[in-house]
Amino acid sequence: MKILAIETSCDETAAAVVENGRKVLANVIASQIDLHAKTGGVVPEVAAREHVLKMIPVLEECMSEAGCDWDDIEALAITRGPGLISSLIIGTETASVISYVKAKPLIPVQHIVGHIYSNWLGDGQEPRFPILILTVSGGHNELILMKDHHKFEVLGETRDDAAGEAFDKVARILGLGYPGGPAIAKMALNGDGGRFKLPRSFLEKGSLDFSFSGLKTAVLNEVKKNERKVDEQFKADLAASFQEAVVEVLSEKLIVALKKFPKVREVHLAGGVSANKRLREMIAEKLKKFNEERLIIGENAERRKALSNVIFRHPKSFDYCTDNAAMIAAAGYYLYKSAPKKFKRKTNIIPTTSFEIW
Ligand code: KG4
Ligand code: ZN
Repeated sequence: MKILAIETSCDETAAAVVENGRKVLANVIASQIDLHAKTGGVVPEVAAREHVLKMIPVLEECMSEAGCDWDDIEALAITRGPGLISSLIIGTETASVISYVKAKPLIPVQHIVGHIYSNWLGDGQEPRFPILILTVSGGHNELILMKDHHKFEVLGETRDDAAGEAFDKVARILGLGYPGGPAIAKMALNGDGGRFKLPRSFLEKGSLDFSFSGLKTAVLNEVKKNERKVDEQFKADLAASFQEAVVEVLSEKLIVALKKFPKVREVHLAGGVSANKRLREMIAEKLKKFNEERLIIGENAERRKALSNVIFRHPKSFDYCTDNAAMIAAAGYYLYKSAPKKFKRKTNIIPTTSFEIW
């Protein structure tokens, strides 16, 4: 079953065709990064106008790359929210019109759920439940327990800035441009992550919530305190120290959650910040240690076997980390499979800013 998906929640105009929720036939993304770099962030009105310009060319390129005509497409999937309403509307209206004219079912997908399904894209063994997911994006940051397809329990979330938002704001403080995540990661490669002692906010004991605003303020204070010393090495060391602080809190909380849910078989990383190599590296290290320790303390052979080897996954391609439509198609496929009759053509999809997972 081939699904055509559209994603326009923020500043990427994206369309994809995915077969059976996993095989990506085309994944086209028109990025607006250059446009928003001029203002150091996304101006919603500017983003919406750009979506209007790019929507049809992106769709045409996607269909041609997938080698499909409309008869091959069985259903459409569309990001309904959360996101910028003026951006979402371009996608939802386009999808609604295609669904109406071509008489295809239309599946609304929650954006964060879309990110979660980015780990289904590609070959290899299908993920096995229960799964513990760390979502780290510019607009959202959660720890989620996924018990089955589209069955989620939010265990923790950010109380202020999301991880990606913190990267973007700190990059701004250091004058590294937009988007901040890749700029900080690149700068950090030449820096000493131990030079600045920055705070790690773990909140109350056992809490699975996050808070990054204090860390951002600490970075700002270092810059103010050392105004005359801010050269390239200073920036690289501060970028590396900041990255270490974020990555340590994220990976540590993941392990705390894992200890609370011993039946979890896989750990997934999703969202724009999942592109961060240092984060992947630290999670892999901590998970290896977790798996080793569990093998030693397991009570009997059978239980040890059942408990062993929690698998770590992150999106197989960097294109699946940040916003894209392939992940929306994947999420849409598993939703459709669970109740095909629920999704009809001529559906009116109303965009939403709500972060509620559905
Ligand atoms: O998931 P996403 O594309 O958009 C939202 O749904 O919010 O995430 C974008 C975020 C931005 O904040 C960006 O700075 C961050 O992902 N990001 C990174 C990296 N690549 C993108 N953060 C850290 N390291 C990276 N390599
Ligand atoms: Zn996103």
